[in-house]
Amino acid sequence: MKNWEIAQKIINWKHCYGRNKLPWQKKKPYFIWISEIMLQQTSVTTVIPYFNRFIKKFKNVYDLYNSDLNEILHIWSGLGYYKRAYNIHQSSKIIIKKHNGHIPDNMKHLTQLPGIGKTTAGAILSLSYNFSFSILDGNIKRILTRLYNIDINLKKSIIQKKLWKLINQITPIHHANKFNQGMMDLGQLICKYKKPKCIICPIKSICQYHMSHEKNHISLKIMNQKKIHKHFIIIVNNQKILLEQRKSYKIWKYLFSFPEFDNLQDMKIWIKKRKIKNIVYQKYYYEIQKFSNFILHMKCILVSCQNKKISYPKKNHIWYNLKNKQHVGIPKAIKEILLKINHKK
Ligand code: ADE
Repeated sequence: MKNWEIAQKIINWKHCYGRNKLPWQKKKPYFIWISEIMLQQTSVTTVIPYFNRFIKKFKNVYDLYNSDLNEILHIWSGLGYYKRAYNIHQSSKIIIKKHNGHIPDNMKHLTQLPGIGKTTAGAILSLSYNFSFSILDGNIKRILTRLYNIDINLKKSIIQKKLWKLINQITPIHHANKFNQGMMDLGQLICKYKKPKCIICPIKSICQYHMSHEKNHISLKIMNQKKIHKHFIIIVNNQKILLEQRKSYKIWKYLFSFPEFDNLQDMKIWIKKRKIKNIVYQKYYYEIQKFSNFILHMKCILVSCQNKKISYPKKNHIWYNLKNKQHVGIPKAIKEILLKINHKK
């Protein structure tokens, strides 16, 4: 896919799914400047109420210039990184004295203002003046490293250089504002640090990260398809059910479940050994439980029996009272079955 096609995909996606109604959008450069400083270390949702309060009090750069730093800090309280508020105050003096009250519209003058680096300047230039400047914030870095499978263990300065080169190549001449906002939104809404939503990503078809994870996904699915069949016996005696505490199993260790067997033969031997008599077979319950690398198919046979004197080490089992439940750990699948039994399903 050509760079302009990638850019077009981002712009189209932003048009439909991006954040198009942020309070600083389509406003004067002053608003973009303030919002971009606030957004430097803080998320969009946190910034919105602070931004609204800030511009209500300081409507333009002259209001800032004429105010005391403490007033700015008061409005900034809670947003953190207070150096930013100080930088805004200092910048207002430079903007009034050197730039006649206009927010600079070039990289050189913007980056001379305190607290403004290449990325914030790129954001101001593209979002307020629609000039073709790139942004390379944390979100965009994450997108690019995934898209091109960039080794994040390389020296920081080398990665930085690579990423700037890439983003400069992709940023379109026209509509850089839409592209940049789209990239930031994509990073925050789709290409998240944890659990990226690749399925709905507009550029997944060319993304190395997605392609490698899809393969992993398939292999995981194959692993998951491994089925394990186990038999369980549900012994009911006078509304109470025998549960044994699991000690030496791979799953549900120390939880209480119905006694488990690999096959029916083992179950019969167990019944004999425990001297359980007068058993009446009643019905089967089936349950499927997914685990990360296998699926457990449970075949549970419900039996009633009259003798409660089952030979058991005392600590290892309880008679679970369906009407007055004991507070013990029970696996979800077992709970489901107990629920069915209780409702006579
Ligand atoms: N982070 C920095 N600038 C931003 C913007 N304009 N929108 C969303 N997140 C941002």
